[in-house]
Formats: sequence, structure tokens, C-alpha cells
Amino acid sequence: MPVPVPALGSFEYVAETKEHLPWADLVTLDLSLYATPKGRKELAKTLITAVREKGFFYVRNFGVSQEAVNRQFAIGKAFYDLPLEEKLRYVPDNFDKGGFNGYMPAGRIISVDPNTGLKDKVEVYNIPKFNGDFTHDHPAPVLRNLPEIEQFVRDLQTKVVEPLLTLVAIALELPEDYLRKMHQYEVKSEDHIRHVHEVLETPYERQRAALELGTRAHRYIYVHISSAPATGLSAFSAFAKIASVSDLGSFTLLFRQPVAGLQIQDPMTEEWKWVKPQNATLTVNTCDALQLLTGGYVRSTIHRVMPPPKDQQHVDRLGLLYFSRPHNDVKLATIQDSPVLQREGYIKNPFEASGNPVPTMEEWTFAKQKWQRTGYLGPQRASKEVLPGFPEKVYT
Ligand SMILES: [Fe+2]
Repeated sequence: MPVPVPALGSFEYVAETKEHLPWADLVTLDLSLYATPKGRKELAKTLITAVREKGFFYVRNFGVSQEAVNRQFAIGKAFYDLPLEEKLRYVPDNFDKGGFNGYMPAGRIISVDPNTGLKDKVEVYNIPKFNGDFTHDHPAPVLRNLPEIEQFVRDLQTKVVEPLLTLVAIALELPEDYLRKMHQYEVKSEDHIRHVHEVLETPYERQRAALELGTRAHRYIYVHISSAPATGLSAFSAFAKIASVSDLGSFTLLFRQPVAGLQIQDPMTEEWKWVKPQNATLTVNTCDALQLLTGGYVRSTIHRVMPPPKDQQHVDRLGLLYFSRPHNDVKLATIQDSPVLQREGYIKNPFEASGNPVPTMEEWTFAKQKWQRTGYLGPQRASKEVLPGFPEKVYT
């Protein structure tokens, strides 16, 4: 007898914040214009300005229904509702070498101080590509929805990532498929979809958060430990030191609940601005690989996640992200075929300028992931080179 599949349930969104925050002024690309050559030309112009000035933008009318997005959030919620012991079975074996597919429990990535045992409150579950290069070993709520997850991811690739890559190629006066050829779904790359869960704070923790925020706001994120030897309290909260980061791939797509938390550092003014969650839009940013491939013409903007405003602190936060990256074997050398980059003088990235070996995307991915876990967030929390020739700054 077939076993009935439990209903997924629906995912409920929190109301928008009423607080007046300093919002970033970002453009929205209407991808319905992509269908015509004239529309593509227009979009390419808007996009290249956006990724040179801000590195972040919104996308709407991208052809994936809100219902499909909501179902992915519901899958994420079903996963996080599992007991911790069940989730821990999916921690990646190669975590310390920069591996990331599977489950990362809270406290694995960020610790405030090895002596206190303070931990972060963010859990992550990453699901790799469905092109045959990766095993798909998942717990039941994910496994039984795997065909739907695959369809969702493939839609993101064809309806969002490929159009965006085409538009950047047009703006660089390259053949339209130039960047798409480096991002084919069937070729091995470390693209993945990510469910993020940030655990709800207690009123006591919120109080602490408010106190800490007054003095050290920009370097800290909210953390929680179950016992604090120094204070004897059974529950204790503090802020973990976290450096803001840029992403390592080509594009990051972010589906958001209407919870304010993301901030970007305006590349021109260096001011921190909040990114407003918009209805039925994706928030997208360009990342390190595109910056390296374009010799710095396209920006990989620094960003961070902050505790939400007061009227949104009562909810668990769920996030859904998709990371698009070039094939693992792509060498991250500056593209020399673009008349725009040649004219404007963007012909060398930091590896080339310093005479160091230019890494492949695979080398870059694992070096940066490892650096994030053992370098600036590790015990010494010191600024280190990600790879020779690329001394990543710790942004505070
Ligand atoms: Fe990011």
C-alpha cells in the first residue's frame, strides 16, 4: 500500500517592518523585457551600471511563480523542524577543507571566543547541482520533494542566471553566449541552493542585543549558547565578531521573507545601507568570480546580515539562496576578448597584476570557503591571503 505523503503545509511570511531604515537605492530589472533585442539592450545598460555602481539589484518578472517559491520555503521549514540528531547526519565530511554540501549546524562556522564556547545561531542546508556530479543524500522532507527542487533550480538557471549572464556579455560587447558557455548546467560547478535558518531570540537575548548594538553594532551578529561558564546563566547571548564578506561566485540570488536584515556597503560612499525586501522580486548580487573575470569592472560588493528591526525580532528567519558559479575548470583570468574592458583598461585582476598563478574556479571556491572557516573567522581572526596574490581584507 502506498504511504500517504504528508502535506507540505504553507509557509507564512512576517509583516514588513514599519521602521524607517536607511535603504539602499537599487534598480529593478524587469526580465519580461528580455524577450526582444531592444529590451535586452536596454536591460544590459541598466544592469552593467547597477553592477558597477552598487553590485546589487532586484529582478522581477523572471517567470518563476510565487507559489513555487513559497513551496521551497515550506521545504526548508520542514527540514529545520527535524530533530537536530537527524539533521547532524548530513554534515559534510569535508567541511574543514571547505566542503559545504549538506547541513551546517549553528555554531560550526562562527565562534566568538574558543574560551567561552559562544556560538552563532544560524543553520545552513546546501543542496548541490542535479547534473550527475553530486550525490543527493537527503532527509525525508527534502528527498520526497527532490524532483520539485530540481525543477526549481533548473528554472532559476534558465530563467534568471542565463539571461543575466547574457546581459553582462552584451554590455561587455562579447558574443551573447560568452559567459553562458562558462556556466552550463550539465558541466561540473559548485552551484547550490541554500536554506538558511536563524533561530528566534528570547526577550532576554533581545535586550542584550539592544545593549550590544548601541556600542559595537557593525561588527557583530547575534549568537546564542546553551550555557555560559563565566556567568552561570543557563542561557546567554552575545554578539559574535563577524567580518562582512563578498560572495565567491558569479551571481547570488536571494529570495527573502519581508524581514530586513541584509545590509550592503555602498562601494562609492562606504556607507552601510539596508536592502529592502520587495514583493515578488529577487535580490541579486554580482560576486568575486565575475569581478576577477572582468578585471574589476564588475563589482563584488561587501555585505552583511544584521539583527532585524524591533518589529520583526519575534520570528524565526528563513532564507533561500541560489549560488551560481563558473565551471570548476574555468581559469579566473581577465577576459581579453571584450572591447569594453580593453578600452576602459580593465585588463588585469589581482592575480595577474601580482604575477601569481591564476586559480581555477574550483581552487578559488575551496580556498575562499576554507579561508572563511579557518582564516578570518578562525581562532586568530586575522587578515590572511585567500590565495597568493589575493590578500582578502577583513571588512569591519
Ligand atoms: Fe552573501
